[in-house]
Amino acid sequence: MSTPLGDRILKVDHAGEHGAVNLYRAQILVSRWTASQMTPLLRHFLDHELGHRALFRDRLQARGVRRCRSYLLCGAGGWMLGLLTGLLGPSAIAATTCAVESVVLQHLMEQRQQLGSTDPDAFDAVSRIVAEEQEHHDHGRDAMRSGAFWPSILTPVVRVSTAAVIWLGMRL
Ligand SMILES: [Fe+2]
Ligand SMILES: [Fe+2]
Repeated sequence: MSTPLGDRILKVDHAGEHGAVNLYRAQILVSRWTASQMTPLLRHFLDHELGHRALFRDRLQARGVRRCRSYLLCGAGGWMLGLLTGLLGPSAIAATTCAVESVVLQHLMEQRQQLGSTDPDAFDAVSRIVAEEQEHHDHGRDAMRSGAFWPSILTPVVRVSTAAVIWLGMRL
């Protein structure tokens, strides 16, 4: 029997939040040399992502559902992306936040539509993180300076890779 949609969505979101935790951890690590003015904000985002990951982990545990096979891949991908963009400095960090979170928000909206009233528990879990992801996105967008070098290169790359990881996670 195939995995119910609600379970699959909780799994992929749990893995994605693990990616987000590692992304911000890596950016915090290197931002002390490249963008120390952003470190407090990145720590604030990390606190949120830890909460999101725990939320999805708890819901999966309550259902007796194992974590996604993409979990470690997401973690490694998030770490690599965070390290690379953290080294490139403030405009790269801001562009990454904005790009990742905009894809995340788009998916959360789609997931909420798909779940509707069929899985109120999963719908509730997804809904709970929307406001904080929006906050991350808006901070990233506002910190992105127009005309800066990295955003134009990073935005499409980060958007496509984030969407690819979600696509893959839903099929693993
Ligand atoms: Fe999150
Ligand atoms: Fe986020």
